[in-house]
Amino acid sequence: MNQPAAQPQADVAGDCLLDVFHITPVEPVKAEGVWITAKDGRRYLDFYGGHAVALLGYGHPRLCATLDAQARTLFFQSNAVDIAVRRRAAERLVKFGPKELTRAFFVNSGAEANENALRVAFLATRRPRIIAVTGAFHGRTAGAAAITAGHEKWYAYPNKPFDVTWVPVDDVAALEKAFGIDVAAIILEPVQGVAGAKDLSPEFMKAARALATCWGALFISDEVQCGMGRTGWPFAVMAHGIVPDIITTAKGLGGGFPVSAVLVTDALAAVVKKGDLGTTFGGGPLACAMVETVIDTIEQEDLLPRVRRLGERIRKEAVVGPVVGVQGAGYLIGLRTRRPAKEVLEQLRAKGIMAGSAGDPHIVRLLPPLVLEDAHVDLLIAALKEIPA
Ligand SMILES: Cc1ncc(COP(=O)(O)O)c(C=O)c1O
Repeated sequence: MNQPAAQPQADVAGDCLLDVFHITPVEPVKAEGVWITAKDGRRYLDFYGGHAVALLGYGHPRLCATLDAQARTLFFQSNAVDIAVRRRAAERLVKFGPKELTRAFFVNSGAEANENALRVAFLATRRPRIIAVTGAFHGRTAGAAAITAGHEKWYAYPNKPFDVTWVPVDDVAALEKAFGIDVAAIILEPVQGVAGAKDLSPEFMKAARALATCWGALFISDEVQCGMGRTGWPFAVMAHGIVPDIITTAKGLGGGFPVSAVLVTDALAAVVKKGDLGTTFGGGPLACAMVETVIDTIEQEDLLPRVRRLGERIRKEAVVGPVVGVQGAGYLIGLRTRRPAKEVLEQLRAKGIMAGSAGDPHIVRLLPPLVLEDAHVDLLIAALKEIPA
């Protein structure tokens, strides 16, 4: 790609922002489709989607029209009143997922969705322990952090909120040992995102479901990152033919508008009483209008077959240049690199491609928008081929 020279940029967040993020040295000023334009005039093909949020790319005409129309009609109302767009969004979302999950609760972030899923699990079972999987990332709030790998380094609260048993990825024997009568739920990401797009084995997934049922515990599928069509299925757990008790989802759910949701079965909905859960912003009209349009767009543009086909193409063709292996599903892909992923990411950026890092320093994570096309995959493969092994 013919590009102006990159302008050097310091790793600073600005004078008035808390300096808590590692800043990528690109300052986006506008974006359209799958392309980002930076302040220095350079263009980048986006294989990262702003932490997987830009599910339908940038400036999608349907999303822009929805946001504009809803903002002009009813900008905000809380859950203290019944609004049609919220009812419609809930209906749309539960129809998108497994048919056994019939109720939705809207909140604002991935962590908040998981906090509420845990609350439902504790309310429903009155048991004290959660099983989590090594490498998991479930969020930064107290409960979500307690089930997030490596939180000991940054979790500053003085006490742990509940007991957690960690099970190694794909270790069915450890899973069998971990279950017991005091387990409220197992929570897992069918494809672990932050860990590097690690897809859990079908055997592990099935064993987790069977053991949870056998012990009267709940199965929570955290699809904050891998849900909303990203793996080529509405929700990743559906690829395994498994019905979870709870699904949490966020990131792409609003196509860039902040919104998350907890989906539960009728049986769980019956346990949760008025006042048990709550939120001020969750389920606002703008968020709900976006949820409706995101799902409509995925279905009307028939994006899921394309995600499966192109995801498979990337998996087959991306083992070139510095890449020695591929993991993940659909458009949640981890490229295992011989050299540190950080170097590969810099070289991809120099060639006009944005991708992401992962907890594993030898994984480049790809989370492109679902509207990606063959020509974009061609550019990725060509760029990887030019990067030395
Ligand atoms: C699987 C998963 N769960 C939960 C979260 C937390 O989401 P949020 O940052 O919106 O709180 C993330 C964020 O990356 C995630 O990938």
